[in-house]
Amino acid sequence: MTRAIQSELRLAKRMARLGTETAFEVLGRARALEAKGKEIVHLEIGEPDFDTPANVLDAGIAALRSGWTHYGPAAGLPKLREAIAEDAGRRRGVKVAPEEVVVVPGGKPIIFFSIMALVEEEDEVIYPNPGFPIYESMINFLGAQAVPIRLREKMDFRLDVNELADLITDRTKLIILNSPQNPTGGVLSEQDVRDIASAIGDRDIMVLADEIYSRLIFEGSHFSLMSLPGWKDRTIMLDGFSKTFAMTGWRLGYGIMRADLATHMSRLMINSNSCTASFTQVAGIEAVSGDQSSVDRMCAEFRRRRDVFVAGINQVKGFSCRVPKGAFYAFPNITRTGWTSKKLADALLDEAGVACLAGTAFGEFGEGYLRFSVANSIENIQKALSNIQKWAQQRL
Ligand SMILES: Cc1ncc(COP(=O)(O)O)c(C=O)c1O
Repeated sequence: MTRAIQSELRLAKRMARLGTETAFEVLGRARALEAKGKEIVHLEIGEPDFDTPANVLDAGIAALRSGWTHYGPAAGLPKLREAIAEDAGRRRGVKVAPEEVVVVPGGKPIIFFSIMALVEEEDEVIYPNPGFPIYESMINFLGAQAVPIRLREKMDFRLDVNELADLITDRTKLIILNSPQNPTGGVLSEQDVRDIASAIGDRDIMVLADEIYSRLIFEGSHFSLMSLPGWKDRTIMLDGFSKTFAMTGWRLGYGIMRADLATHMSRLMINSNSCTASFTQVAGIEAVSGDQSSVDRMCAEFRRRRDVFVAGINQVKGFSCRVPKGAFYAFPNITRTGWTSKKLADALLDEAGVACLAGTAFGEFGEGYLRFSVANSIENIQKALSNIQKWAQQRL
């Protein structure tokens, strides 16, 4: 009889540097509580609760039926690259060529690929904190130096350009910007973007501009670094379909970048995914070129929910929340409750039946805050507010 060999799992060292997205873990815990019969309002996960618009869904189904089930070009279907170049360029007032577009499965690969393609181990990458946790995770994973720039509530979570200027060194290779921002809902103004460009000056630094929430903006309008003269070649602009068209599960996103860099990103695609799902891309052509009214409807609805949530959470003892200008998150300050973010988020889940995220899930400077996603119905948002209010009256 042969005995099974018990061997130790010997992971590569770099795996210890890989972070995660807590939203998925909290979702798992919330589901486990639901399985035990507890009712939970889900305000933890960052995805639209709407269905993918019918015209896009129909285009995807028709594509499946008509054979778009094979490999396609690594950088994306030519027709989708053209449609994105036209749409994303027009919205930002710049001319974009299809060769400057790389289509990938979701927005996330552009983050990974940009850092992988550009950054050496000794290089520094400046990134927002609190911010989307994948930036820090990927910088650390790839062995580069992570340099957080703190986003401050008193500045409505826009970054302080003077602080940015102080953080830039000769070793800075990449700066990550994100507007509208996850988790704070902060939005950079046109002047902010111009000031950031001046602070970087003519240094040899690339910027990854994560604009995945660019169509979800409630006040003012979106302004892209890419549209400033001379900046298109120094910007990798990340956008995608997950948030704008409620297509998180389809996995469709893209980067716009100088054509020579795009060929290297295509090589990374060949080595990792081969290509983005072909039928998903055909649905994407309909999403960017077809009727846009569902995008406007979803944005208006997120704004209505934001207003209800912010007004309600500001009534809760110890909470104070600024009005986010974009995306679909609220990021209230909870320092006056006397609780830490993690303890409070855990207690709200276990005792009030409301799932949200600790600000620290977005980096060390998220301490003192919670993130709530308002991508849920008004009815559920009101239920969450009422549960939190009752909990606070008893426990704070
Ligand atoms: C700021 C930011 N960038 C990128 C992404 C990634 O989006 P996708 O699901 O398309 O990969 C997200 C998703 O939450 C995000 O919040």
